[in-house]
Amino acid sequence: MNLKLLIFRARSRGVPVYCCLLLCVYLVLKYFYWRPLETESVPKHLRGYLKFAENFKFPRHKLRAAEIKRLSSLVELLNNEREVFQTRRYGAVRGDTTTLVVQVHRDAERLQTLIVSLAQVRYIHTVLVVFSHSYYDNRINKLVASITFCRYMQIFYPYSLQLYPNKFPGIDPEDCLSVQGKRDKYCSNRDGRLTEHKHHWWWKACFIFNNLDWSDNFKGTVIFLEEDNYVLPDLLYMLRYTTRTLSYLQGIHVMSFGRPYAKYLDYDLLSVLSWRPPFDNGLAFNKTIWQKIMSVSSYFCMYDDVSWSYSLLNAFGKLRAGRADVVATAAPRVLSTSMFPSGRAAVRQISAWLADAKLFPVNVKAVMLYGSSGRIDSGSKPPPWGNGGWSDMRDHLLCLDPLMSTTTANFNDLTATSDPLTSSTTADYLTIAHHRVNMSDAEIRHLL
Ligand SMILES: *[C@@H]1O[C@H](CO)[C@@H](O)[C@H](O)[C@H]1NC(C)=O
Ligand SMILES: *[C@@H]1O[C@H](CO)[C@@H](O)[C@H](O)[C@H]1NC(C)=O
Repeated sequence: MNLKLLIFRARSRGVPVYCCLLLCVYLVLKYFYWRPLETESVPKHLRGYLKFAENFKFPRHKLRAAEIKRLSSLVELLNNEREVFQTRRYGAVRGDTTTLVVQVHRDAERLQTLIVSLAQVRYIHTVLVVFSHSYYDNRINKLVASITFCRYMQIFYPYSLQLYPNKFPGIDPEDCLSVQGKRDKYCSNRDGRLTEHKHHWWWKACFIFNNLDWSDNFKGTVIFLEEDNYVLPDLLYMLRYTTRTLSYLQGIHVMSFGRPYAKYLDYDLLSVLSWRPPFDNGLAFNKTIWQKIMSVSSYFCMYDDVSWSYSLLNAFGKLRAGRADVVATAAPRVLSTSMFPSGRAAVRQISAWLADAKLFPVNVKAVMLYGSSGRIDSGSKPPPWGNGGWSDMRDHLLCLDPLMSTTTANFNDLTATSDPLTSSTTADYLTIAHHRVNMSDAEIRHLL
């Protein structure tokens, strides 16, 4: 056969036909498959918050001395101003306003999915959301400034790695990290990139409870979140139940809304147990508890562990009760997105998980577990030594006085230890409280 003729035929008929076919297949796949995955889990009116692409990363970039100087004074100014936005719409912040504080570093892509989730929380218009940043960037600020669904404010950790790239509390010449190869010299075995998270956590708690205009007689609850969290719509709805359960209990107690996701959890159950990590996502407490923590702050600040939650466990251990009890939702209302490749991927998976979750339960039960020898979980002591990374005296001193003056790795322990609610079938439980919703929206608003 004539080769020339063959080529001619393919050109005139075959290739365009194949091309058209491929294009059709692509369009059909895109329409039926790709589009729903991308957007269905985020409601249309909230897609404007998705400003960062799925693979977005800030470039590693060290500021020059002059830029650092300018940024430091800007941060100082902003921390002094402490401006609350959207008060015209939602009213001034009061001494009993529930506050959500979000620790933000550089993961803007996950932060925007947290914001999308916050926007869907019922009663979110009654709270104040505080974003505490350890990385200053105009694109993050723009994202936060686009929030219209609640009151919000921004504070900035003034001892961040961004502002101290080459000296303590950043990576100091005396840190082994920066003198590698010259081991004969004394060096401190700390990593400023890891210590920043604990410092920031502590600084922002100090700032919220001691440094805001309404801090002096602050009666509200503070819920601690991180940029890689995702909250469920009934978070604040459940807060009422946990708050009410606290009033039935003696001693020190905190609330927790976060734990790793698992199937078949009871969305209408609260469990009372000794607090320990990994119940550190969505931890919540008020100023009374904060003052108790402050009274043992040295056990937080001098405990050799870069994780704030294990340090807090150590500090609670030094209180007279020897532990803090927690009222925790048996099913999480705060999830971590850190184990997913991106915030968007997390949203897709979480919406699938929650398709048949019974959120907004009408009957809620709070239980404490008892076995034949008393409380099941009374023995959760902190390890006598921390996991290390926090042995430098300079870190201790900065932590002890943080307001003289805030994420990198994620230390959330996702390997949940066995759940006493499911692992001990022989245990009896004592019902502490039984709640049923019959409050009007006005009453609820008052409680929040
Ligand atoms: C904090 O919560 C506890 C327990 O509900 C309560 O007894 C205490 O009065 C609260 N503190 C403040 C300052 O509101
Ligand atoms: C609901 O509210 C009414 C009064 O408004 C009260 O009598 C009742 O005990 C409340 N609780 C339940 C479970 O109905």
